[in-house]
Amino acid sequence: MGDKFSESEQGSLQKVLVLDFGAQYSRLIARRVRECKVYSEIVPYDISVDEIKKINPQGLIFSGGPASVHVPNAPRCSKEIFKLGIPILGICYGMQLMADMLGGEVAETGKSEYGKTRLLAKEDTLLFKGISLEQDVWMSHCDSVKTMPVGFKSAAATESIQVAAMENSNNKLYAVQFHPEVIHTSFGIDILKNFLYDACECTPSWTMVSIIEKSIEEIKKKVGRNKIICGLSGGVDSAVAAVLVHKAVGDQLTCVFVDHGLLRKREAEQVEETFKRNFKINLVQIDAQERFLKKLKGVTDPEKKRIFIGEEFIRVFEKFACELKNVNFLVQGTLYPDVIESGTKDAAKIKTHHNVGGLPLDMDFKLIEPLRLLFKDEVRTMGEELGLPDEIVWRQPFPGPGLAIRIIGEVTAERLEILREADAIVTEEVKRAGLYRKIWQSFAVLPGIKSVGVMGDKRTYAYPIAIRAVTSEDAMTADWAKLPYDVLERLSSRIINEVSGVNRVVYDISSKPPGTIEWE
Ligand code: XMP
Repeated sequence: MGDKFSESEQGSLQKVLVLDFGAQYSRLIARRVRECKVYSEIVPYDISVDEIKKINPQGLIFSGGPASVHVPNAPRCSKEIFKLGIPILGICYGMQLMADMLGGEVAETGKSEYGKTRLLAKEDTLLFKGISLEQDVWMSHCDSVKTMPVGFKSAAATESIQVAAMENSNNKLYAVQFHPEVIHTSFGIDILKNFLYDACECTPSWTMVSIIEKSIEEIKKKVGRNKIICGLSGGVDSAVAAVLVHKAVGDQLTCVFVDHGLLRKREAEQVEETFKRNFKINLVQIDAQERFLKKLKGVTDPEKKRIFIGEEFIRVFEKFACELKNVNFLVQGTLYPDVIESGTKDAAKIKTHHNVGGLPLDMDFKLIEPLRLLFKDEVRTMGEELGLPDEIVWRQPFPGPGLAIRIIGEVTAERLEILREADAIVTEEVKRAGLYRKIWQSFAVLPGIKSVGVMGDKRTYAYPIAIRAVTSEDAMTADWAKLPYDVLERLSSRIINEVSGVNRVVYDISSKPPGTIEWE
């Protein structure tokens, strides 16, 4: 994992590594550390000591995890880690593991604590310095530390457990049984800051301005005088990547926007207008609608759609790069969650996500991925800092294969038209209700069935439209958005009245998992 950084980044950047013991909160821990303006990265719990030395972090955080230290094969890190002299903060399972590995005793007390819990912190501790000693914290555990390892002192207790936090300041080891990363822990961020700034001696210097400056420097160095292209999708990631690279290398960059005919209403025009109005970036728009529709004729399988679209996109891209001549670099808007996902050893494939601007495997490009260390919210902050307009920065994500994976069954010009019109109404009404930014994604889906209705005393047999609106932090999990009834009512009435070929509107109330956000 150490190879995520270039050599110059390795040297100068203060980092804190989160060792992931399978916690659902590992990403959240990394994000909270970054909110404290310290760069943080997630690594597997079995990372080797040599690798850690190479990365040279200022601190380590052991995440929680579902296991108990007592079960066989419970995830354990190398014992040598404790000898490195790097400050460590153990959280939940991370605390129990620290206690167990250093000779303490972890017991199943039979008293599991879950949810909001009153904590009484002790005076003169590093973790609770400057924070109210009585506070609410978020607990989620069964096991707890019964006997601390030698050299530790208890730093907090709750009604059920004596050691709800512990410290060994000589060896810079700290641990909490609760979750400082979740917002329900009132002073969680302050506890993290105490660890980061006092124990690890980090300075809060990982700011957006510094990230931008650093990235521009890196890109300049990497690209030199070469030509570089960027597939622009109109979404926030590729737009931010393009503007950042443009700041670094100016006219050496050409952005390509491929209109594959699977876009939303007026999307191609909007992207061009926005970019031309706001930036002086070389932008080429390629109309490839016909060839994509031809390729998708008769295709109903979702995975085949994705693969065909991905391939076709690459061919269009390739042709353009050939015409431009001597293109050596390709910009991709890859984000940190994509990097984490691709590092997952055992994750089952659910969908082949095709990334527009995707990697043409058989082309001889070197990749520039300036956002590969950032979370989506950080990309949005960067976009704002770079002066991108709100309409791009706050755009909801849109999948590379576009409307094709929101049409169940064959993609035809007629069905695309129906979906496009319905989708435009969804966006318009969600925006009008002031909900667009609060919702992760909201869109229309065209199922491959028809149903009977009655309109103006006549029988109709037409398509339904399904509305999908979800809230999410990072698209890994999602909940269906509780849209107000009046918004749903307006959506239903407008879609049925204004979109010909539709006689019914349904609302998708599935969360992810077990559903996915898209229908295909
Ligand atoms: P799912 O449907 O897997 O979607 O819950 C999670 C997020 O990924 C987007 N998505 C895609 N993005 N190519 C993309 O570029 C794809 O093939 C693709 N499929 C899903 C989806 O819109 C959501 O934000």
